[in-house]
Amino acid sequence: MELARRLDRIQPSPTLAMGARARVLKARGVDVIDLSVGEPDADTPEAIKEAAVRALAAGRTKYTPAAGLPELREAIAEKLARVNGLPYRAENVLVTVGAKHAIFLALQALCNPGDRVLIPAPYWVSYADQASLVDAEPVILPTREEDGFKLRPEVLSEAVQGARVLILNSPHNPTGAVYTPEELAALGEVLAEAPGCWVISDEIYEPFVYDGARNESLLRLKPELQERAVVINGFSKAYAMTGWRLGYAAGPQPLVAAMTTLQSHATSNATTFAQVAAIEALQGSQASVETMVRTFRERRDLLLAGLRRLPGLSCPTPQGAFYLFPKVSGLFGRTWRGQVIQSSQQLAELLLEGAATATVPGTAFGTEGYLRLSYAASTERLAEALDRWQAFWEEMEP
Ligand SMILES: Cc1ncc(COP(=O)(O)O)c(C=O)c1O
Repeated sequence: MELARRLDRIQPSPTLAMGARARVLKARGVDVIDLSVGEPDADTPEAIKEAAVRALAAGRTKYTPAAGLPELREAIAEKLARVNGLPYRAENVLVTVGAKHAIFLALQALCNPGDRVLIPAPYWVSYADQASLVDAEPVILPTREEDGFKLRPEVLSEAVQGARVLILNSPHNPTGAVYTPEELAALGEVLAEAPGCWVISDEIYEPFVYDGARNESLLRLKPELQERAVVINGFSKAYAMTGWRLGYAAGPQPLVAAMTTLQSHATSNATTFAQVAAIEALQGSQASVETMVRTFRERRDLLLAGLRRLPGLSCPTPQGAFYLFPKVSGLFGRTWRGQVIQSSQQLAELLLEGAATATVPGTAFGTEGYLRLSYAASTERLAEALDRWQAFWEEMEP
């Protein structure tokens, strides 16, 4: 079938694809441990679900304004001021169908064909594919494991002149990296010298920081960037609301107005009763978020300790999100049941086949030689995954 040529430039989301393969195996009765997914395993907190039920009962079932419910936009602006120290008002906020669509709308509103979009690698794959979909050119900037996979100012400096957008993500998917205030300030200095370059700051993993790390906002440290920056955040991760599809963007009013116009033709608005419940998420007790963060830190430590017992694999201690990104290239060339391991894709497939554990190969994030493991799974399942890998490793020949 002949489809539009833009489809040639993109792939189905590889993280979702791995999850789908795991589900097929599960449906066949295989007890798959799914460490491929990017969503908290906790359920949405009761108070938020109850707020949605109340909203439905009260007939909150019609369209909202395209930019979102005024009271939710107000609540988001208040959160951005209180938690992030950012001076946005309700008119600077757009409520979207997930943070993913907020990023897409920002790229649609900012990029002309051929514009360069700077994306540090490893990267969340939708950044590059969304840039391609708006006919921009994704430009992948390398980072190094010894720098904690964080973009160095020198690398940014070489690419930033003439670029249209830099996409920054902290805490980071897939590596769990968290930029320090000093690192952000250094990048801010470089951006200050490149007045044509916008920043999309994806802060969707904001609450998930460990070991005293702090989620700092580049835009608070460098307020002059606010006039050419968009903050992206949402409810999926912090409040375990992935299926509700609710995110937001905050930025200069003309950009938010343009994104709102685009949204008015694309989705009209985010789901109304979900928006009502999101007010409860922001303004109600944050105890469930705190519990999730504590639980994730324990799981991270459990998984890290187990991984470090597996020869040929190494993993630094990430300070954020809920992913580990171990280096697995030390296993390339080794043989498992007659098959020579040659890539992270092949290793992920063998781990699914031989250890019934789903992971995502580093190539899905533009970086060969690594695997992404989500620790959004119970302690028992993580321990079971480690036992299965131990057995898998024992079958591996040098
Ligand atoms: C880095 C990053 N940004 C944005 C998103 C999108 O989140 P949402 O569910 O709000 O669309 C994800 C989800 O996996 C993510 O990992």
